[in-house]
This record gives sequence, structure tokens and C-alpha cells, in this order.
Amino acid sequence: MFTLALGCADFERGPVAADAGASPTDGGGEGDGGGAVSFASDVHPLLTTGCQSCHRGGGAAGNTSFLLTGEADADYAATVSLTDTSNPSASRLLRKASGAGHGGGAIYGADTPEYQALLAWISGGAQP
Ligand code: HEC
Repeated sequence: MFTLALGCADFERGPVAADAGASPTDGGGEGDGGGAVSFASDVHPLLTTGCQSCHRGGGAAGNTSFLLTGEADADYAATVSLTDTSNPSASRLLRKASGAGHGGGAIYGADTPEYQALLAWISGGAQP
């Protein structure tokens, strides 16, 4: 009895690195149903991707009031308090995300699709 390990499976290391960080999702924020930007499907993924590495218990921003859990319901509550629907672009969420006085620097600059998706969400009333 012996185990045969096939040697051919190891070819995956080639020219793969190129598309690593290029473009998260094309198509911008308001993809699916009819215009409204939803927290759970449009905004939350941007926050877990761009913010949660620091904004979690034990992270670099673990001592701030903005902590993400990965659960959309809980994270909605933490996030909506950082929005100002009467003056969306002045929202603390956007100011920090774009690097204005933010310990984490500019994550989503004002000219990025991610920033525009966050802005559209707040402008639309910061719905869940
Ligand atoms: C590299 C680590 C890092 C990342 C990534 C990061 N932050 Fe931060 N953030 C910090 C640190 C450190 C602070 C505390 C200092 C300060 O207030 O800027 C902070 C503070 C904040 C605050 C203030 C919270 C409070 O209690 O007043 C907000 C809001 C915020 N960040 C939003 C974001 C958003 C939105 C993202 C993702 C788009 C993000 N941060 C990504 C490090 C990070």
C-alpha cells in the first residue's frame, strides 16, 4: 500500500498576482433592485473589507466607538450613528473614510466608487 501524490497540481503559482487588488467590484453601488443603496448588500461589505481590520475588538481602532462585528444588523447600528443624512458628505463616516483627521488614513478617497457608494447610501436616507 502506498499513496500516490500527483505532482501536477502545483502549477498554480504562475502569473496570478496581477489582479490582486485591482478593482473590488465594477458596476458601482446601486446594482440590484431599483436604485436604493442597501446597507446589508452594498455598504456592509465595503466596511468589513476596508475598515474591520482595525475597527474590531483588539484591532488598531479597537478603543474607538466604531467597532464592526461582521454582523450586518449590529454593524448597521454602529454605522448609522456616524451618518448625517441632512448633510451627507459631512458625515463622520465619510470624513474618516476619506482620511480627514483619521488615524487609519484615507481608505476610500472621495473619487473612489466605494466612497460614492457610501455617499449614495447616506443621501438615500441610510437605510438598513
Ligand atoms: C489601519 C487601521 C484603520 C482602518 C483600516 C480604518 N480605521 Fe478608522 N480609525 C483608526 C484609528 C486608529 C482611529 C482612532 C483615531 C481617530 O479618531 O482617527 C480611527 C477612528 C475612526 C472613527 C472615529 C470613531 C470614534 O469613536 O470617534 C471613524 C468613524 C472611523 N475611524 C471610520 C473608519 C472607516 C469608515 C473605515 C473604513 C472605510 C476605517 N475607519 C478604517 C484606524 C483605522
